[in-house]
Amino acid sequence: MKVTVHTLQKKKRNAEPIVALTAWDYLFAELIDQAGVDVVLVGDSLAMVALGHPTTLPMTLETMLHHAQAVSRGVQQALLVCDLPFLSYQESPQVAFQVAGRIIQETQAQAVKLEGGYSAMVDTVSFLVQRGIPVMGHLGLTPQSVHQLGYRQQGKTPEAAEQILTQARALESAGAFSIVLEHIPKDVAAQVTQSLTIPTIGIGAGPACDGQILVTADLLGLTSKQPPFAPPYLNLRSKVQEAVQAYSQDVRQGKFP
Ligand code: KIV
Ligand code: NA
Repeated sequence: MKVTVHTLQKKKRNAEPIVALTAWDYLFAELIDQAGVDVVLVGDSLAMVALGHPTTLPMTLETMLHHAQAVSRGVQQALLVCDLPFLSYQESPQVAFQVAGRIIQETQAQAVKLEGGYSAMVDTVSFLVQRGIPVMGHLGLTPQSVHQLGYRQQGKTPEAAEQILTQARALESAGAFSIVLEHIPKDVAAQVTQSLTIPTIGIGAGPACDGQILVTADLLGLTSKQPPFAPPYLNLRSKVQEAVQAYSQDVRQGKFP
């Protein structure tokens, strides 16, 4: 059965953990969807993972649409969520609505995700939700703010933790259906999770979140820069290298074909 935003609310009520992964193309989208994940996110981390940029900031709306369309062709069951890329939505709720609307219309994504919980973003979430677009929030380490935050863990002081909690509550009140909590202390994530009726999805935020998300390339050990909080489930990088070396050797020695 197709996963919807309501399925996720129900999972939180029933204390069933939510499983989420990212995808950037048809091939991996189909694989992880058929393996039974609940949520597929077309994360703008694809700018780094699939396109080789140093940050997520160079991601454009057109590139995002291109990847989200490919992912969408592979996803049958999971809830499909697409990131709003940097510069495409921050200016105003109206601009964000046009961009989110294009994503929903042109990719068949069921929801969008945006970063941040200051009042401007809370207003934007409310504007989109009131016009029929489900929004996932994203707090803690928000990579589109890398030049303000770095890639450091967030929410480490009591004041910073309190701010995350306040912003999470504000996003919930604005109508967000879920919130990603990235790279914050596990106690802070636990407190946010207990305080909200909408599900939290953690990445580097400990076990108390209502669900977990990883960048699929990190899960599979495909990236050269593995984040400290995401030990790979497979070392696919070395498996790929072994296969390429074996093939090269066979071709060079006249054993293949
Ligand atoms: O872009 C991304 O992959 C994300 C997840 C890490 C939540 O936003
Ligand atoms: Na992202």
